[in-house]
Amino acid sequence: KKSILSLQSQTTSEMHDDDTFAITEHLEKVFTQAIATAYPRFSNVPAIIAAVNASPKFGDYQCNNAMGLSKKMKDEGINKSPRDIGLEIQRCCPASPIIEKIEVAGPGFVNIFLSKEFAVSSLTRMLREGVKPPKVPRKRILVDFSSPNIAKQMHVGHLRSTIIGESISRLLEFLQHDVIRINHLGDWGTQFGMLIAHLEDRFPNFLNESPPIGDLQEFYKESKKRFDADESFKKRAYNRVVTLQSGEPAATKAWQQICDVSRKEFQKIYDRLDVTIQERGESYYQSRMLTVVEFLRNKGLLELDDGREIMWPDVNKSGIPLTIVKSDGGFTYDTSDMAAIRCRLEEDLATWLIYVVDAGQSTHFHGIFKAAERAGILNPNIHRVDHVQFGVVLGEDGKKFKTRSGDTVKLSDLLDEGLKYSLKQLQERGRDQILTPNELVEAQEAVAYGCIKYTDLCHNRISDYIFSFDKMLDDRGNTAVYLLYTYTRICSIARNSGEDFSNLAEILDKFQIVLEHEKEWKLVKTLLKLHDVLMKCANGLFLHFLCEFCYEVCTVFAEFYDNCYCIEKNKAGEICKINHSRILICEATAAVLRTCFHILGLKPVAKI
Ligand code: ARG
Repeated sequence: KKSILSLQSQTTSEMHDDDTFAITEHLEKVFTQAIATAYPRFSNVPAIIAAVNASPKFGDYQCNNAMGLSKKMKDEGINKSPRDIGLEIQRCCPASPIIEKIEVAGPGFVNIFLSKEFAVSSLTRMLREGVKPPKVPRKRILVDFSSPNIAKQMHVGHLRSTIIGESISRLLEFLQHDVIRINHLGDWGTQFGMLIAHLEDRFPNFLNESPPIGDLQEFYKESKKRFDADESFKKRAYNRVVTLQSGEPAATKAWQQICDVSRKEFQKIYDRLDVTIQERGESYYQSRMLTVVEFLRNKGLLELDDGREIMWPDVNKSGIPLTIVKSDGGFTYDTSDMAAIRCRLEEDLATWLIYVVDAGQSTHFHGIFKAAERAGILNPNIHRVDHVQFGVVLGEDGKKFKTRSGDTVKLSDLLDEGLKYSLKQLQERGRDQILTPNELVEAQEAVAYGCIKYTDLCHNRISDYIFSFDKMLDDRGNTAVYLLYTYTRICSIARNSGEDFSNLAEILDKFQIVLEHEKEWKLVKTLLKLHDVLMKCANGLFLHFLCEFCYEVCTVFAEFYDNCYCIEKNKAGEICKINHSRILICEATAAVLRTCFHILGLKPVAKI
């Protein structure tokens, strides 16, 4: 009974004042209630709500419970047709300001029609106040992404993690969560012993001035060569691992300088891609690794195995054990991730951990999550952990993405190439003749980086994808170029009206949004799906739904624009009529796209 009351108060007053909710979610509540009222014994059956994309005569949303309930009743020995059940659900539906009418069609489809009045008020509020996120309970979420390794190439796998992780962070921040963005740099481990020893020989003055290491990968190779060939060098390298881990100042300084070289390179990529991330590499967990090992040992969870200490993620010892302490006493990738997960849950007090790492590491993360649960660090009732995995990037030959000479592709080269391609495309369109040099550079970067990000985000992240500048720069289909051009076109409509649309509140005081034309109504209904889409993306951590939504908005906008004049001109080509309502709809479309672009990391440019 209580829930009926709270829902009704929400559907009447509250929801009128505040329509920042996702439509599907709202309808789920309304129809779950309807089912519970109609059939109290099924009060735990959640409503199944789907958006209808077919003909508008079937409504905008559907409640699809009638068939299932009819079957349930049959099992109880009661014969009731889905159609009768649909009618009963319709009858018991509590009032909602967003529903215009409900129709039961065919064998029991419950078709829901959205209210235009609600749509107009939602859109008006959005234009006055900006696009607001749907309300969700605020969580502290830690996103581990990018996470390249010092002295090694940041490769396309890290690029995917960077792009996906940045967008997930933006999405969750837009939903008002407290997001901690963490770069789990590979900045610790035995390889630093040889790097430090080599630094001492190559740049003996490293304590006083920063060493001019041009190419750290080269430097790494040199030190590895010496390590393999020279016994005394090897010995010194081992010793440096020990001095570094004990915090000895000279070794620490050398380590910092080596890290700085990589750090600067990584930062250049982050700046170009507009990525914000806080560095907290594996080294951060040095002391925490000591304590987590003690913790696990005291709980009796470590087992000796051939000189190593291992931990089975599962009590019944299935799967692959984690190596917590190596036979030489050293720690591993497993140890640092056990220390990290404990720190994130117990010190940072995050309740949701997201690891954006390639699919190849799924066994590792599965083991870490299970082991953390077994150790009582992670409690699935209060914590959520996700390994947000993704597939590999393929070259146009369908094989792993490599340069022609077979090397891994340097990310800075890749971004440079993107810039070249996008400039060429802008020149082919003659844009270099029209835009100012600044505008041209802005457009060039927006297109190049936008395409690279969008190609990554618009596929289901789990699958592999083929990297092709030609495809991503296509201006037809679901591409960043198409979206950016459409956005620019939308922005130009108000600009070309000859009237000032910069103060929308003022315009809204004088003009109302009216939804008469079928295409106006279709576009507005599409825009109103934004909150549903954002929720869907956040729940599964899939950004391609947002990309598909952007594409839908743009194609539906094109239909609207083909059929509905916003500005009418006379024979002399002079503007004779301005349809303010339609221009307001254009502005709302632009606002929705801007919100999505922000999350996807696309820079909207007013001119392109
Ligand atoms: N540095 C690792 C790599 O390049 C990725 C680290 C991911 N994060 C983690 N907590 N293990 O493969």
